[in-house]
Order: sequence, then C-alpha cells, then structure tokens
Amino acid sequence: MATFPLYTTSFRGLGSITQRELRQRFGNKISQLRSNRVRDWDLNAFTFAGPPGELLELGTIEDLYYHLGAMPLSGAVADLEALQSQVRDLPLDPALALHRQLAPRREHKRTSFRVVVQARDAAWRHYRRVEIQKAVIAGVGRRFPRWRAVEEDADLEFWAQQADRTLVLGLRLSDRHLRHRSYKAAHLPGSLRPTIAHALVFLSGVQEGQVFLDPTCGTGTLLLERARTGRHHLLLGGDLDRAALIAAAANFGPRHRPRGLLHWDASRLPLGDACVDRVAANLPWGGRHGSARTNPSLYTAVLAETARVLRPGARAVFLTSEGRLLRDALMKQPALHLAEPARSVGVLGREADIMVVEKRGPGPPPAPSASHLPVPSR
Ligand SMILES: C[S@@+](CC[C@H](N)C(=O)[O-])C[C@H]1O[C@@H](n2cnc3c(N)ncnc32)[C@H](O)[C@@H]1O
Repeated sequence: MATFPLYTTSFRGLGSITQRELRQRFGNKISQLRSNRVRDWDLNAFTFAGPPGELLELGTIEDLYYHLGAMPLSGAVADLEALQSQVRDLPLDPALALHRQLAPRREHKRTSFRVVVQARDAAWRHYRRVEIQKAVIAGVGRRFPRWRAVEEDADLEFWAQQADRTLVLGLRLSDRHLRHRSYKAAHLPGSLRPTIAHALVFLSGVQEGQVFLDPTCGTGTLLLERARTGRHHLLLGGDLDRAALIAAAANFGPRHRPRGLLHWDASRLPLGDACVDRVAANLPWGGRHGSARTNPSLYTAVLAETARVLRPGARAVFLTSEGRLLRDALMKQPALHLAEPARSVGVLGREADIMVVEKRGPGPPPAPSASHLPVPSR
C-alpha cells in the first residue's frame, strides 16, 4: 500500500480535535502524527496509508496538503538561497500526481501557480515574508521554467508556513469547497464557520438515532454539520430571529428530515423534560446578537433549559467569546458539570471558548418516541 506524507490545517485551538477525528476515523491508516502551530492555524502532519481522498471527508479541517518538506531557518539572509535550492529539488512528482487525482484542473497551455506564505515577522529573522515568497517562486520557476506565477486563481498552490524556526512546505490538495461546504447558500453576520460547528458536534459525541438540539440555531450550521455525521432521530433548532430561520431552511433545502426549525426564545423552550440527547449552541456574544445587558440572563436561562431538556448523562457543547458568563451560568446549575477542560479557539481574529457540559445521572436510555416532541418543520 502506498503511503503519503500529508498535513491538515484547522483553526487555532481545534488541532487536538482534528487529531481525535483523524484517529477515530482513520486510526489504522495514520502514523507519525505530530502537530504544530502556525499563526492562527493548527497543523497536523502524518503519514497516510490509504487513498488520501478519504481525508476530504474530515469535518474539522480547513485544508489538506501534501507535505513537501520542512526547512530549518537560521534567520540569516542565506536562508533564502537555501530555500530556493530546496524548492527546486523537492520530490514534486508524487505530490503533483495526487493533486491531479484529487483536484482535476482545467487544461491550460501553461500551468499557473501561486505561493502563499504564512510567517509572523520576528526579530531573529533578517528577511521579510515577501522575500520568502520570492524565493519559493524562484525555486519553482527554476524547476519548471514554463510555469507562470500568478496571484489568484492558480492551478497549483504552494504554501510555506513558518512554525517556530521551521518552514513547512506543502502543496494544497483541497479547495475552498472543503471548508465552506456546498450547503451554505444563505449567510448572516455571525454565521458559524462549518469546521468549528463540526468540532462542537464532534465533541458532543453524537451517535446514530439521537435527538439533537441547537437552541440558537441561526442559519443552521450546527444542525447541518450534525446531519453530515450520520442518521438522526430528529434535528431540532430554533431562533428568535425569523430571518435566520428562513436562511436555515434555505441551507437545508429538502434534505435531512425529520427536522424542526422553530421560532422560539431559547430561555423558554417548548420541549418536554429529558427528551434531548445532544445540545450544541453558538451562543449570542458581544453586541451583535445579544447585548451586555441581556446576555447574562440569557446564558443563565439557556443553561437552565439545557439542564431540563437533556437526558441524564447526555452532553451539551457551547461556543462563546463570553466564557466567564457561561461559567457563571454553569455554577447555577447543579445538574450540569464541565465534562472536559474548556478550550480556547481563535475564530477569525476573535478568541472564543468551547465548553463541553454533561448532565449528571446515569447514561441515556434508548431512543425516544417522538410523541412528546414538536416536529413542525419549515
Ligand atoms: C452567534 S449566532 C448563531 C449563529 C449560528 N450558529 C449560525 O451558524 O448561523 C446567535 C443566534 O442566537 C439568536 N438568539 C439571540 N437571542 C436568542 C434567544 N433568546 N432565543 C433564541 N435565539 C436567540 C440570534 O438571533 C442568533 O441567530
């Protein structure tokens, strides 16, 4: 069986969840798994023994790359000449063959390529990011003189990502559809990135045949990511904002029934006690969907409702940049406890916390009958 040196990128703070997802889904095909942080991204590098196209099903990754090599940086200007030579001599053929297989491209007379560099300026490095980019372009150009470097919409993307004093070199194998998904037709401000939504769903530990609830569902990203993971008994989401519910219905289209998208106030859910197996929510934060005045009472009420509607032993996962409010609200609910240490994630320039909460009590009983659940659906 052929093996491939690959790496993935995830939002900063989600790398450890990607590792769990990799091990859970592809455990026996993954070896030499190691992680790195580059600016706002977590990298997981590994050797894969299997068809790499399978990895495009991972839910928590932003991109998949062929790992071309890594170069230690001294910080001296001589690094640039060494980088150019290393790029010229990279073992590119297997990477290009895999790229052709995973991302068939339009036929052009001349292959175009783009070089993306992620490197924070540092005092020890006596050259700038743009000079790294030029060195990589020159290296590729020396190897393939007919190729042309472009700034956008390239056939191939070479990435150089600086992790501490090492430059990781990769060829991007995925495109933007991996991270943005095809279902996201309708967006609203505050709509969650699908890979982060997937991480929340993953941490909730979903199983087939469960009732899954998002009490502040917005455009439905969490519900749609739950739907990707396997069969459900019922997907249930609601929001105070009717426009968000219309967007959620548009994103669902005719797929993933049974489901209910309801206009409600998450602090007074129209649901019976102990009828939900998993909750995941991206709570209103800051002033955009809530306010400094109302968020404390909303958080308290949402956690009280979570404690009421969850089955004993079941899990809820929350994302918020107001972690302190959520902790305060959790303290008021003796039925709930933090099941894992809270983790911080970098969400496009903002810091947020993911908290996994469990309802005390014995494990969940068998799947419910739907009779005590509202199932109107849009
Ligand atoms: C951060 S957004 C959620 C975004 C969603 N995850 C998505 O991907 O579109 C928070 C949502 O909570 C909703 N919201 C605010 N207060 C609410 C309340 N009391 N009950 C239900 N929803 C509420 C807002 O309308 C907003 O859609």
